[in-house]
Amino acid sequence: MQNVMFDNEQFKLGFFSANCSSGMAVTKVPERWVNSWENNLKLAKLGDEAGIDFMLPIARWIGYGGETDFHGSVLETMTWASGLLAHTHRISVIATIHTAANHPVIVAKQIATIDHIGKGRAGLNIVAGWNKPEYEALGIELPDDHETRYGFAQEWFDIVKKLWTDKAPFDWNGRYFSLKGVYSEPKPVSKVPPIINAAGSSIGRDFATQNANFLFTPAIDLARSKEEITELKEIARNKGRNVDVLTFSTVVCRPTQKEADAYLEHYAQKHADWEAVDNLMRLQFAHAQSFPHDLLSLIRDRMAAGHGGFPLVGTPKKVADGIQKLHDAGFGGTTLAFVDYVKEFPYFRDNVLPILEKRGIRKKVKFQPASDRHASRGLFGMGRRN
Ligand SMILES: Cc1cc2nc3c(=O)[nH]c(=O)nc-3n(C[C@H](O)[C@H](O)[C@H](O)COP(=O)(O)O)c2cc1C
Repeated sequence: MQNVMFDNEQFKLGFFSANCSSGMAVTKVPERWVNSWENNLKLAKLGDEAGIDFMLPIARWIGYGGETDFHGSVLETMTWASGLLAHTHRISVIATIHTAANHPVIVAKQIATIDHIGKGRAGLNIVAGWNKPEYEALGIELPDDHETRYGFAQEWFDIVKKLWTDKAPFDWNGRYFSLKGVYSEPKPVSKVPPIINAAGSSIGRDFATQNANFLFTPAIDLARSKEEITELKEIARNKGRNVDVLTFSTVVCRPTQKEADAYLEHYAQKHADWEAVDNLMRLQFAHAQSFPHDLLSLIRDRMAAGHGGFPLVGTPKKVADGIQKLHDAGFGGTTLAFVDYVKEFPYFRDNVLPILEKRGIRKKVKFQPASDRHASRGLFGMGRRN
């Protein structure tokens, strides 16, 4: 079976950050996401049955503080992906790996192993590093310059890829690694699993267009995104590669716009964990270029609502329109995040996915959701009758 990430016929949808406490919502509301294994498993099964394409986790080692210590509890992504792949059938599950903290020979084998568990459904999100306090917590140095961060990541990934593709043992004498007589068997089922990278800097984007299949970037101003996507694809094409650009979104989908707006105001304004939001933004400003710095101060509200994700807030039609806008801007897909993924996703599944199918943005999945077919009806009072 081909990894669904390589199916280019539809706009991809994934879940993001379900392995982290509070998911993407920097909020104090009591119903904020609990990142337990049970909840992650429930969500993966719901997504698998509904035809959601992938699950992308965040690799985080210390939280952002505030009253909730946003992302203070995190399920480790390789072992998380391994468990989810064992329990699902179609969905792709990605492991997120910091190059500096994980030896490439070990990661090559771990990804090959989970790819066998999932029969070719694993993926790898490569993080070259940006979060300085985290690196200090791990006792590893974060180089100040992007050249060194991505130079290291390039050598790291060259080794991983060679281990996945070369049969014979090899020696490696690089700038950062010296290896002797190394090889890795078994190979991944999908030969080279989907590679994801979310660099924001131009040096990081050189790395992404050179190595990744998917480049994640925030969608803040869609006119700007459209130009950015055209440019990134062009850079990749000049390197003889095809790179799809994806983004991440925040979903508040309710029967009426009024209800959706009221809930957004409730969790992301009145009860936002502003201290954690400000810590998150301070770190983004200091060490990363993932969000364009001239736009960062404009998006404090979006940070609280969903870590800077594109807002999909309103009725099912309004949410579908938002997804259509991302599609029309040239994005190849988006992740979705809800305050409570398991409780809120069924309403999205039953009311937004059919609109996207009708518009030809998504294909209809072959199997019917079974585990909680009626869940969305009770939730917000309205739902499609099956
Ligand atoms: C969708 C997405 C997922 C990311 N996942 C992680 C992650 O799990 N852990 C992490 O430390 N950084 C993560 N990052 C940060 C990026 O890998 C990257 O380091 C950051 O955007 C800074 O870009 P730059 O290195 O080019 O400055 C993510 C960013 C985005 C947009």
